[in-house]
Amino acid sequence: MILTDLKDKLAFNRYYDEPAVAQVARIQKIKQQFGADLLIVAHHYQKDEVMQFADARGDSLKLAQIAAANQQAKTIVFCGVHFMAETADILTSDQQQVILPDPMAGCSMADMANSFQLTQAWSLLTSQFDDDILPITYVNSTAAIKSFVGDHGGVVVTSSNAKKIVSWALQRAKRLLFLPDQHLGRNTALALGLTPANIGLWQARANRLQATNPAALRVILWDGYCSVHQQFKVAQIAALRAQYPEIKVIVHPECAHEVVAAADEVGSTAAIIDYVQQAPRGARIAIGTDNNLVGRLIKQYPEKQLMFLNPFSCSCILMNRIDLPHLAWALDQLASGQPGNVITVNPEIASGAKKALDRMLSLS
Ligand code: 13P
Ligand code: SF4
Repeated sequence: MILTDLKDKLAFNRYYDEPAVAQVARIQKIKQQFGADLLIVAHHYQKDEVMQFADARGDSLKLAQIAAANQQAKTIVFCGVHFMAETADILTSDQQQVILPDPMAGCSMADMANSFQLTQAWSLLTSQFDDDILPITYVNSTAAIKSFVGDHGGVVVTSSNAKKIVSWALQRAKRLLFLPDQHLGRNTALALGLTPANIGLWQARANRLQATNPAALRVILWDGYCSVHQQFKVAQIAALRAQYPEIKVIVHPECAHEVVAAADEVGSTAAIIDYVQQAPRGARIAIGTDNNLVGRLIKQYPEKQLMFLNPFSCSCILMNRIDLPHLAWALDQLASGQPGNVITVNPEIASGAKKALDRMLSLS
């Protein structure tokens, strides 16, 4: 069963009428009953009501590594977004199943590149640049995009290994097509010493390359972005620095380059957590990433002066679709022998995508 039909949705609504304590108790009981056959993993952006049940938590890279390494769990319940669950399905064996508690938990950035657009872009770019171009996709992409990339000799990156892998790729190809996040691509290329003249922008809806001097291009960025990280601005950093001259600012690399340049540090969700953990008592730090993670860090380290870079920013509504009622529903379905929202990637697509993911894992 996939929880997208109206009839199923209406039946599901009773989970919102049930007291949370009853769902907590049932989830604990089902977890105990399944033991090592069931693994619940959660991304750092998940809410505390879900996080409390996670056997493992991580950034996208760690969660992919966990899926690839785990052979014991027959079921992995993935508390994150759709591309993460797809990645886990591709990296696990056919004897294991991956469940996403709410299939509507997508990623708006991943949806900014589809195979039709990529095929068109590829045909135009390879004819313009004589085939010497390698595709690289951020893990925040559909399995179909990963498959295209894998079948064309390319590789997946995450926010924590992008610098290493893009540097590797630049030694192998004259040009890279980096999709779908223009900001991670630009931040990575500039951190590796490329100049703005080496970076072009592929305008996917117009099917057009924007570049001042195409001959100088090393990295062509797809024009996707994350709507959550678009909410961080240089003016917010400047205002905090004026108020607290000693403040340190750390942001996720999905933020625009001018924001990253104005910050003190940039890193994946795991790197942000490490930075906060290692900061001395009393350190004042503003954090530019999803609110659920920042809020949890603020609660976890009351002895440090942690704050939201943008206190009015919206959390990722897609990550937030996974909540206690959806997790309880997913485990109830599993316990009843009728698992719902099982994410199964078409084997042909999975085979291409696995090539790109395996390259990433071996380079990480
Ligand atoms: P991380 O891999 O850094 O956890 O990022 C995932 C993501 O979707 C951030 O928006
Ligand atoms: Fe996608 Fe942005 Fe949400 Fe991350 S925060 S899952 S990139 S929409």
